[in-house]
Amino acid sequence: MVKETRSDLNPLFAQKHNYHHVFLKLAVSCLLVGLAIRLLFTDSFSLSSVLRNPPPLANAIPNSPFFSSLPSYSVDFPVNQTQSSAQDAVECDLFVGDWVPDLNGPMYTNESCRVIEDHQNCMRNGRPDSGYLYWRWNPRGCDLPKFSPKKFLHMMRDKSWAFIGDSISRNHVQSLLCLLSQVEAADEVYHDEGYKSKIWKFTSYNFTLSVIWSPFLMKADIFEDINGVSSSETHLHLDILDDKWTNQYKNFDYVAIAGGKWFLKTAIYHENNTVTSCHKCHGKNLTEVGYQHAYRKALQQVFYFMTQSEHKTVVFFRTTTPDHFENGEWFSGGYCNTTGPFKEEQIEVRYEDSIMRSIELEEFHKAKNASANFKLLDTTGLSLLRPDGHPGPYRQFHPLLNAKVQNDCLHWCLPGPIDSWNDILLQMLAI
Ligand SMILES: *[C@@H]1O[C@H](CO)[C@@H](O)[C@H](O)[C@H]1NC(C)=O
Ligand SMILES: *[C@@H]1O[C@H](CO)[C@@H](O)[C@H](O)[C@H]1NC(C)=O
Ligand SMILES: *[C@@H]1O[C@H](CO)[C@@H](O)[C@H](O)[C@H]1NC(C)=O
Ligand SMILES: *[C@@H]1O[C@H](CO)[C@@H](O)[C@H](O)[C@H]1NC(C)=O
Ligand SMILES: *[C@@H]1O[C@H](CO)[C@@H](O)[C@H](O)[C@H]1NC(C)=O
Ligand SMILES: *[C@@H]1O[C@H](CO)[C@@H](O)[C@H](O)[C@H]1NC(C)=O
Ligand SMILES: *[C@@H]1O[C@H](CO)[C@@H](O)[C@H](O)[C@H]1NC(C)=O
Repeated sequence: MVKETRSDLNPLFAQKHNYHHVFLKLAVSCLLVGLAIRLLFTDSFSLSSVLRNPPPLANAIPNSPFFSSLPSYSVDFPVNQTQSSAQDAVECDLFVGDWVPDLNGPMYTNESCRVIEDHQNCMRNGRPDSGYLYWRWNPRGCDLPKFSPKKFLHMMRDKSWAFIGDSISRNHVQSLLCLLSQVEAADEVYHDEGYKSKIWKFTSYNFTLSVIWSPFLMKADIFEDINGVSSSETHLHLDILDDKWTNQYKNFDYVAIAGGKWFLKTAIYHENNTVTSCHKCHGKNLTEVGYQHAYRKALQQVFYFMTQSEHKTVVFFRTTTPDHFENGEWFSGGYCNTTGPFKEEQIEVRYEDSIMRSIELEEFHKAKNASANFKLLDTTGLSLLRPDGHPGPYRQFHPLLNAKVQNDCLHWCLPGPIDSWNDILLQMLAI
């Protein structure tokens, strides 16, 4: 368990308000309410707004849940690039492999796809290097074709698909929209007030694609202003699902759902409509139970709902996404300026990521026993190998690099490595 003390929070607060106006406003509310500050420029930054000081686990990789399947790959699945049938894909692990050079580069650009969120539009924002675009994920032992928008849309005729989760799910859906835009541009038919949940229609295919912002998947009272700054800690109901997605669940043929790092945040936990415990709630007379407890409970409820539902949906459960902040966190000068993929021996599995992923795997496999329609989109390991795929300072338009700029080493540039998540998604559909 990583414990955070009050003094851990204050220095970073002091450090930041020098160069962000927003902190002045914050300082006042902070003092008034005496609550921990969460500075979130996007919902994502909150993901990393959690101090961590885990030991790097690089030397523990052989035992790490990330690559637990590694030792056997070369024996069981000899590399054979000529094989590409769906049957082969069944036999190989799509999530164990390497990033290999791909001279074709991305299937879209900032010019051809107009739905890329500004903060992830690295090309437009002036990122100077482009090497990060010329890699593709190559599972060992099977061929992974590049995403085919025609094939995908053909399969999705008259269907409905929802991505449910936090801003990484939004990042993922934007990659999908960009890939599909080569065949058909989607019509946006709905957005919520904060533009966090949206619905698109692909008219000629009668395909409906949604993204539902539900960072905890559970009922949560999140106190954030328009800048994503929280004025109070989150209240999370560990026994009530977020009806934002459950109300619509019966409409979906496919669901891609993910939990993740929001659980690392300060939160007061409610069960049975009573405050029961908390995570990182300093100064409150509550039992600290840790995010693991909350995350496991949440996933159990999510999977229980799905397995008990009379509506049968194909469920892709995505594992947690790693960040690559180096020499600090998002708020303390952390950056990610590597320009190529890591080799396996270079990666450091963060303590939280390995804990989260093991909870995810355990709960997923229990649920999978009850439903054949559950598929694991286990992107954590392959994403961990791509420190070069994040916007870094290019989350902003032509950042002044000599000034202190906010780096984003969590979300993914579009185009970028996250496009490969969709290569895999289509391959899993084809199986
Ligand atoms: C690869 O697979 C093809 C088709 O199954 C087979 O003909 C070929 O011999 C294999 N090559 C290697 C190197 O295993
Ligand atoms: C795309 O990025 C390039 C720089 O790589 C820029 O010149 C161009 O204006 C951008 N286009 C759009 C539509 O943002
Ligand atoms: C579109 O798909 C929905 C199911 O998602 C179906 O009920 C409806 O009839 C379809 N519309 C057309 C015009 O085919
Ligand atoms: C929830 O509250 C009800 C009524 O107060 C009680 O009967 C029940 O045992 C409680 N359940 C749990 C899990 O605490
Ligand atoms: C903290 O909670 C416990 C049990 O609910 C109670 O006995 C104790 O008096 C509380 N302490 C303070 C300082 O409120
Ligand atoms: C990355 O940034 C650090 C700190 O500014 C710098 O020392 C290093 O040379 C940079 N590396 C690359 C590859 O640009
Ligand atoms: C799933 O079911 C199999 C056999 O039915 C059993 O061996 C396994 O322990 C179960 N796994 C979990 C996580 O419940």
